[in-house]
Amino acid sequence: MLFDLDLIKRVYAELPTKVETARRLLNRPLTMAEKILYAHTYRPATQTYERGKDYVDFAPDRVAMQDATAQMALLQFDTCGRDRVAVPSSVHCDHLIQAKVGATEDLNNAIETNREVYDFLSSISNKYGIGFWKPGAGIIHQVVLENYAFPGGMMIGTDSHTPNAGGLGMIAIGVGGADAVDVMAGLPWELKMPKLIGVKLTGKMSGWTSAKDIILKVAGILTVKGGTGAIVEYFGEGADSLSCTGKATICNMGAEIGATCSLFAYDDKMAGYLKVTGREDVAELADGVRAHLRPDAEVYANPEKYFDQLIEINLSELEPHVNGPFTPDLATPISKMAEAVAANGWPDAVEVALIGSCTNSSYEDISRSASVAAQAKTKGLKVRSEFTVTPGSELVRFTIEKDGYLGTFDQIGGVVLANACGPCIGQWARHIDDPTRKNTIVTSFNRNFAKRNDGLASTHAFVASPEIVTAYAIAGRLSFNPLRDKLINEAGEEVMLDEPQGYELPPKGFSVDDPGYQAPAESGSEVDVVVNPDSQRLQLLQPFPAWEGMDLRGLRLLIKAKGKCTTDHISMAGPWLKYRGHLDNISNNMLIGAVNYFNNQTDSVKNQLTGEYGPVPATQRAYKASSIGTVVVGDENYGEGSSREHAAMEPRHLGVRAIVVKSFARIHETNLKKQGMLALTFANKEDYEKVQEDDTFEIKGLTEFAPGHQLTMVLQHADGTKDEIKLNHTYNQQQIEWFKAGSALNLIRKQFGK
Ligand code: F3S
Repeated sequence: MLFDLDLIKRVYAELPTKVETARRLLNRPLTMAEKILYAHTYRPATQTYERGKDYVDFAPDRVAMQDATAQMALLQFDTCGRDRVAVPSSVHCDHLIQAKVGATEDLNNAIETNREVYDFLSSISNKYGIGFWKPGAGIIHQVVLENYAFPGGMMIGTDSHTPNAGGLGMIAIGVGGADAVDVMAGLPWELKMPKLIGVKLTGKMSGWTSAKDIILKVAGILTVKGGTGAIVEYFGEGADSLSCTGKATICNMGAEIGATCSLFAYDDKMAGYLKVTGREDVAELADGVRAHLRPDAEVYANPEKYFDQLIEINLSELEPHVNGPFTPDLATPISKMAEAVAANGWPDAVEVALIGSCTNSSYEDISRSASVAAQAKTKGLKVRSEFTVTPGSELVRFTIEKDGYLGTFDQIGGVVLANACGPCIGQWARHIDDPTRKNTIVTSFNRNFAKRNDGLASTHAFVASPEIVTAYAIAGRLSFNPLRDKLINEAGEEVMLDEPQGYELPPKGFSVDDPGYQAPAESGSEVDVVVNPDSQRLQLLQPFPAWEGMDLRGLRLLIKAKGKCTTDHISMAGPWLKYRGHLDNISNNMLIGAVNYFNNQTDSVKNQLTGEYGPVPATQRAYKASSIGTVVVGDENYGEGSSREHAAMEPRHLGVRAIVVKSFARIHETNLKKQGMLALTFANKEDYEKVQEDDTFEIKGLTEFAPGHQLTMVLQHADGTKDEIKLNHTYNQQQIEWFKAGSALNLIRKQFGK
């Protein structure tokens, strides 16, 4: 048994009392999210917390880490002074496997190329009592759903799609590695009490529509910022009709609207999934506290009273959606796609169709997609696009192979990739004749920022359900609507694709030979963790210096980033993933994707010391060599996207002192604070326009740095004039202590006597 049944028993034993206490404190009925949150406060709840305002200390039940972020998280944990993790934790090797030829060869190559990193992760997991999932075992969120997630639990994960576990009724939140260190060290984990967005699902889906279309629709309504600081709670008869894995898809992509996490209440679909994945005892325990794993009845009756925002979607009317390109919130119903393709000049030819990933590789997704794929043969259709299938786990892969679905994909020329992230995170050696040619790909993944999948700015990536992606693979055209359009088969006849058919759960059950799990040693005291000092992949960490105790003067502008600046722009993935355990090496990608406001170019900023333009990292290293601090200025929702803390550690390592933006994405803002950076926002957003290329800055008020008090920034312009502007921040007292100590980790070290 991989999951900790005693822990789940304890959570459920305490749940009724904790929920009752919360109900008494709030003096009203509770949503599902509130029940879980109040049941997981670090100390028993004795007060209410204002949503969107009060910081709360939580005690999550679990931690999950993927290999690209686990390296830095565990390098940090290694310095904190504990000899074992305080809560059950797991590491998943999924991000470092490059898709090139097919599953077996790609996996073998990855094992060879990344041996040093896998050995490090395996040994450090063994030492500190962490479950280790080997390369090929599967993608973190799918493996967590199959093995660890449980209704009413709370977990954090060092990956932004951690909320996938909300499909099993768990509050699961993506965080940076420093947050994971807090929880693994047994310390409280701090989060601002989230706001609540309710999504009421009425009606029932049918035909080509799938769970994916619900979140694609929600993303269109709320946009990439709309969920910021909020938990999205789905309810209504439509919610209970969705499969557990369909719910997980929706929760997974809540990351695309910036939500803290998303959540469904416990129901029979979840019980069924627990049972089929070998957790009958968890289902039985959950059934025993079912009333506490669902919102109070009054919440259903009058949801507008209990949520900060309410959305209603009628599933009976919902049609498939296609989102993109370049942003996941540009939602187009499939009936309008042909029009949109023509109006926007999007390339119509679908060159590659990719299904699977952590978002959409459930048995239901695969069986429904296979029912579409099979029609290519039965209806005499030629498949027009390249087609790839990424299973989310070995459990799924083994089962769908056994049940014949992989064979069906093979018949239409589908290439099965390793059970890993692959093209979803830019780990894709794509074969394309001209990388500058505008081209279209369609995936069933979650994210579609420019360059994300294949590193090419010319690629227009669209996101849709796996059934729709499979239909696109056959038709080869983005303007194709399988609900309405006919295709001409090889005999010259007009044919239509039938609606997808599939199974929520495998009728003959799941099976697997080797799930790829390594349990940790009982005692890790004998385990050695070796990091070669000459390694280019791994580097032990040095503590960041403490704040010097005075206002910051003489800071220069490193870059004023224009428009979207996601964590992919700040710390690119793809080829850079290999340096995720080596802070100095990965810092050479710092902000190379950000667009310089002053010349509209990427990776080209003015070095004020020489007057010359050069790459961002090299320019920053020049300032550092001259002991000059810098400021990065940014636009709205700066740092949206992934949880990677490298996006915060790189500027910290290279000597950037403050990030000043119009607004932040939550995880990135916290990551900056944890690393001892100043994460500040313009009190007046128009002040962004006042920042000039040759400015020198002073940040004043730091000696009186206090929650709720503004700081001041003086902009000394090259022409001798200056502007004085106000900056807001969201630091609480504890976070100010992180800033003063140089990082949150510096404080933890002190606590454990290091
Ligand atoms: Fe991996 Fe993409 Fe999911 S990078 S964890 S498959 S979002």
